[in-house]
Amino acid sequence: MAFRNLQEFVAELERRGELKRIPAPVDPHLEIAEIADRVMKSGGPALLFERVAGSSMPLVINLFGTKRRMEMALGVNDLNEIGRRIGELLEMPAPSGFLEKLSLLPKLAEMAQFPPKVVSKAPCQEVVVRENPSLSLLPILRCWPKDAGKFITLGATITRNKATGKRNVGLYRHQLFGDREVGLHWQAHKDGRAHWRGYAAGEKMPVAIALGGEPASMYAASAPLPEGIDEYLFAGFLRKEPVELVKGVTVDLEVPAQAEIVIEGTVQVGELREEGPFGDHTGYYSLPEPYPTLQVTAITHRKNPLYPTTIVGVPPMEDVWLGKTTERVFLPIIRKMVPEIVDMNFPAEGIFNNAVIVSIRKSFPGQARKVAHALWGLGQLTFTKVILLVDERVDVHNLSEVAWLSFMNIDPKRDCFFVEGPVDTLNHASPEWNFGSKMGVDATRKLPEEGHPRPWPDPIAMTPDVKEKVTRRWSEYGL
Ligand SMILES: Cc1cc2nc3c(=O)[nH]c(=O)nc-3n(C[C@H](O)[C@H](O)[C@H](O)COP(=O)(O)O)c2cc1C
Repeated sequence: MAFRNLQEFVAELERRGELKRIPAPVDPHLEIAEIADRVMKSGGPALLFERVAGSSMPLVINLFGTKRRMEMALGVNDLNEIGRRIGELLEMPAPSGFLEKLSLLPKLAEMAQFPPKVVSKAPCQEVVVRENPSLSLLPILRCWPKDAGKFITLGATITRNKATGKRNVGLYRHQLFGDREVGLHWQAHKDGRAHWRGYAAGEKMPVAIALGGEPASMYAASAPLPEGIDEYLFAGFLRKEPVELVKGVTVDLEVPAQAEIVIEGTVQVGELREEGPFGDHTGYYSLPEPYPTLQVTAITHRKNPLYPTTIVGVPPMEDVWLGKTTERVFLPIIRKMVPEIVDMNFPAEGIFNNAVIVSIRKSFPGQARKVAHALWGLGQLTFTKVILLVDERVDVHNLSEVAWLSFMNIDPKRDCFFVEGPVDTLNHASPEWNFGSKMGVDATRKLPEEGHPRPWPDPIAMTPDVKEKVTRRWSEYGL
């Protein structure tokens, strides 16, 4: 059974020794971030701070900070299981005969159960604050010394496309501008931003921010789904049960019924305000830039809510595992479009947008370049600054092997290639904001047509019979 909400997940984490309660009083101003940073860097447990200065709400952090906890959150033994389920759906042949159609019914029935279910009564609305809603209720962190202020870091931002009515849910940070105002840091290429662009200046756009909910929904907000594909439908697919939604109390949006806290409000479209700096995923402070502001119209919450949050900073941090989940879940979809891809690894140090190592099954000249260009045209992979392409024999997760074979196999002048285009908003190295260059490195074995007329040597490997013999006799050698 999938977890219904954050509190169920937290209880199970605690039962399994994956969560530690901290009864000591702590300060949301930098102190929690320093504690969490040390624990995240060492692969430690989720932390539940029971006494946060200035708020009566307990705070939970590092929920998703390990592979194991991510697997628990999504109810799988291995993150690749989700990729396999998606792969099966993509492989589903168009049924030709009646019997074939029947055999597909269980799969289709499984999908039909996924749409979110709208309920009339919801735990997230046990307490409704419409009169003077104040965010001072929440134990919002100030994460790093040079941050512009306090930031909500794990809020799923719900918007609707004005033209199509389709929902988007995106995980964006929210700077606290005042007790009833937060910044909406949806970057230039994100779906929330596209929805905002669909409104005319002067119009009011409804927005809701959900904190908590089904762990699968919390993850889905960070997933790079194409605009128009509902994150709550995807979360339903992940948890094999529908996500429950309820109508907002002051906005015409549905919000996750099982959330801990929901912030509702409107954006005066056209008005921008400087947001940031903020100690970001990159390990640097992202520079201040203008973003819209949400005017809060209501805060609703459970009777005893838990405030979920995270910090980002010098990697590795909790977000590595949210990103690794995306890597595993989306691999089969990417393979469907670029079939020669065998595996891929976004190393934590590459902050997901800076670097990916891709192994390919190469059978024609220029194929590595073809793969790189395909990835540069695919959703958020567009932003990948460095794509390193290796042969299928390379284990992309073994960075030592990747480094050895890549350093060895390239002739830098011939094998590095450059393109220009959109880059991630957080890429501070590009000369222009959101626009810069990207590099492909073809570290595959070269073919004559690729400018390599010389023979390519064979890699060293012992014969299997000698290996077997040495293994068999190992004890005799006294080693
Ligand atoms: C902890 C965390 C914080 C994030 N903060 C932001 C943010 O402030 N702005 C942003 O545009 N993307 C942010 N992201 C990345 C988006 O969540 C991600 O790109 C997502 O796919 C966006 O959803 P969308 O495609 O529906 O816009 C964050 C991701 C994580 C894991």
